Amino acid sequence: MKALILSGGSGTRLRPLTYSQQKQLIPVANRPVLFYAIEDVIEAGAEEIGIILGPNKEQVMETVRSVDWPVPIRFIYQGEPKGLAHTILVAEDFLDEDFVMYLGDNILRDGIVNHEKRFRATNSSASVLLTPVDDPQRFGVADLNPDGSIRRLVEKPKEPPSNFALVGVYFFTPSIIQACKSITPSWRNELEITDAIQWLIEHGYKVDASFVEGWWKDTGKPEDIFDANRLILDDIDGRCEGEVEESRILGRVVMEKGARIIRSVVKGPCIIGERSTISDSYIGPYTSIGIGCRISGTEIEDSIVMDESSILNAGKVVESLIGRNVRIRECDSLPRGSRLIVGDNSDISL
Ligand code: TTP
Repeated sequence: MKALILSGGSGTRLRPLTYSQQKQLIPVANRPVLFYAIEDVIEAGAEEIGIILGPNKEQVMETVRSVDWPVPIRFIYQGEPKGLAHTILVAEDFLDEDFVMYLGDNILRDGIVNHEKRFRATNSSASVLLTPVDDPQRFGVADLNPDGSIRRLVEKPKEPPSNFALVGVYFFTPSIIQACKSITPSWRNELEITDAIQWLIEHGYKVDASFVEGWWKDTGKPEDIFDANRLILDDIDGRCEGEVEESRILGRVVMEKGARIIRSVVKGPCIIGERSTISDSYIGPYTSIGIGCRISGTEIEDSIVMDESSILNAGKVVESLIGRNVRIRECDSLPRGSRLIVGDNSDISL
């Protein structure tokens, strides 16, 4: 089996972060979201991985190449993001056998091993992953036959036929290529994967469904990234490779090499990245601090701070997503007030 992981798209819902960073590289518990997908497909037996690239292609290649993965990885440039089914057409030469397509901004707690086994066992042309949701109107939704196979898929239905939403992982035989070639762009001018799967159903191919166990997160919006960060941190084991001076460490805390905690209280689950220094601060649960950060005189919880950022005497910071190389500090000269140099589409609560 091969794997096609999607790391293109424009990520408009995560601006301004996605102006400078591809959304699949946003760290959750200090690892790019994309790495969770790569690990899952390898665990499920993928022998070669194709990664679809979009606007920030160099960045994605560099990040992926920073790890020595046990299977070959090929990068496939999509150009403009013209839809999930379009990525299959762009990758046509690569997709000469059965493959799993995995959206690179999705995380599944229990991976995809069981789903891969089921796909093999049912001998279907395609298999989609489903999970029950409270608000099916926001998702692609499946209408099921009595035998559990798919009768119909509908995108964001006003009157949903079920509450089973499509999760961003799909198993395909190469028959999906013909389906993608046969459909036309949707109202949003994208080649939709749901249309391609619907084409398979209408042309007599069997499309199976497999239900997700454990949690699933699509990290398309900031609140989803916080959720994913909490869920991953809930499962971590504490470990200390750094130095602790005159501080209290409570619960499960990961301290990477060279991290220092001085005169502070740190309450897990949380993670402090390599070479980061925390002084005279409180780091609360569900916080991920990246590499080379400096937090001083600040209380922070339920937040993600990316590499090389500093937060100095900033009071209390909660539920915040802070990019790389950001400086947040107390205003210590006149006139007093908030001094902001903020990019387009930022979101600040004072
Ligand atoms: P979406 O989250 O639906 O799209 P997006 O990345 O453009 O985000 P937004 O809606 O905030 O603008 O995409 C789902 C996944 O598929 C995501 O990992 C990006 C990827 N993708 C591609 O690689 N190519 C594409 O053409 C599209 C539409 C998405």
